[in-house]
Amino acid sequence: MEKDFLWGSATASYQCEGAWNEDDKALSNWDVYLHENKLENGDVASDHYHRYKEDIKQLAEGGQNAYRFSLSWPRILKDREGTVNEKGIAFYRDLIKTCLEHGVRPFVTIFHWDLPEYWQEVGGWLNADVCYGFERYCEVCFQAFGDLVEDWVTINEPKYFTSSGYLIGNYPPGHQNPEEFIKAAYNVMYASALGVRAFRKGGYKGQIGIVHSFAPVNGIDDTLKTKIAMRYADNYANNWVLDTAAKGEIPFDLLCVLSQKYDLSFIKEEHLKIIKENTVDFLGLNYYSHILVKPYTEGETSLTVNNTGKGGKNTVIIKGWFEQIFDLPGAVYNEWGTQIYPKGLEKGLLEAYEKYHLPIYITENGIGVREDVSVEQVEDDYRISFMNDHIAAIFNAMDKGVEVKGYFAWASFDLYSWKNGMAKRYGLVAVDDDLTRRPKKSYGWYKKMIESDGKLIERKTWD
Ligand code: BG6
Repeated sequence: MEKDFLWGSATASYQCEGAWNEDDKALSNWDVYLHENKLENGDVASDHYHRYKEDIKQLAEGGQNAYRFSLSWPRILKDREGTVNEKGIAFYRDLIKTCLEHGVRPFVTIFHWDLPEYWQEVGGWLNADVCYGFERYCEVCFQAFGDLVEDWVTINEPKYFTSSGYLIGNYPPGHQNPEEFIKAAYNVMYASALGVRAFRKGGYKGQIGIVHSFAPVNGIDDTLKTKIAMRYADNYANNWVLDTAAKGEIPFDLLCVLSQKYDLSFIKEEHLKIIKENTVDFLGLNYYSHILVKPYTEGETSLTVNNTGKGGKNTVIIKGWFEQIFDLPGAVYNEWGTQIYPKGLEKGLLEAYEKYHLPIYITENGIGVREDVSVEQVEDDYRISFMNDHIAAIFNAMDKGVEVKGYFAWASFDLYSWKNGMAKRYGLVAVDDDLTRRPKKSYGWYKKMIESDGKLIERKTWD
């Protein structure tokens, strides 16, 4: 492996920090949404806010040389005017310094979904002012941490949180409105470009990218109809984020189709210019699974998500565009209905690199499982095999020339899974109800694998 290859793991502020109302932190939209709906929340989560030193030490002792985490916007800025919360800055500076003291590279996501409620109150991502609020927030982050951090991500998974919040309706603000989804999605991509512009203007050291919920698209056959369905699915799932961030172009065929049905007058020439001029340095791809599609047959648009882990698949049917399909012979799923499909990662990496020619980090990859964490050690052989096979897929893609520069397991330790609570565990380290940390078997395996420079990976090929 290249000497500077990053072997790390990842978390996100809302999912692990807890301390939701401490040290002058403002409320986030997730605080309010989960409280109001009386749902399991991240008030305490993994208590990383108070235990980050222990967590980072453990991560370093696990042989990892990078930690991907996110900054909490409402912890850093108190209001829409952009008043800085010095306590929030002090917290993250210390967290970052702790990483550096342990030889761990801080890989910083500026926004991982916890929007300040003061922005949600005025329309959230439907209000273009939020884009400028985000720009200001980015500037504050670069100024406060730019001397210590060299790897920046503007936004985590624009597709996933906007479709969940504005189309499917299972994330805040809980709307189901295609028009709103399109507008929010556009504003998020515009905000990301403003963040890149602020980074370039300030002349900060390092690199800046975006993280995408990468869902490579496969079709059930090679017919033209299926290929058209695949293009629709790719535009829906991937292209509007990746093309826009990497090439500065919103897919033109997507705009043509959308403009027949929706008013796109919020798209302004001056925004498009900023998007075009401020593309990213690298792509962060979060890979959990692929999507298999067939041509659309009948019925209304329908999107379902399994947030219970009790049966049911995450299904997308978009009227006139495509239908996602499941249950092909031999397919294996986790309890939340996500197919385990490492082959999709290899193929997806080849496609993404061919299209964008940018360095790639796998910024998340992992498996959510119900686990009894009261035991001395969780024997998570399924996680080891999941990671082995996905890393093998990455190695295959690298052998074919794809420039992958790092891998981050999701997650560093157990944390709150959006809407699935603590029941769906992803960590390499178990976090018990009393917040005790105990490394799982996978933590030790990952350490040995890193020490072996990847040689411990059982290589695989797929037909
Ligand atoms: C990604 C997110 O979508 O997937 C993470 O960036 C998230 O924040 C992870 O936790 C796993 O998804 P979930 O819904 O199973 O927690």
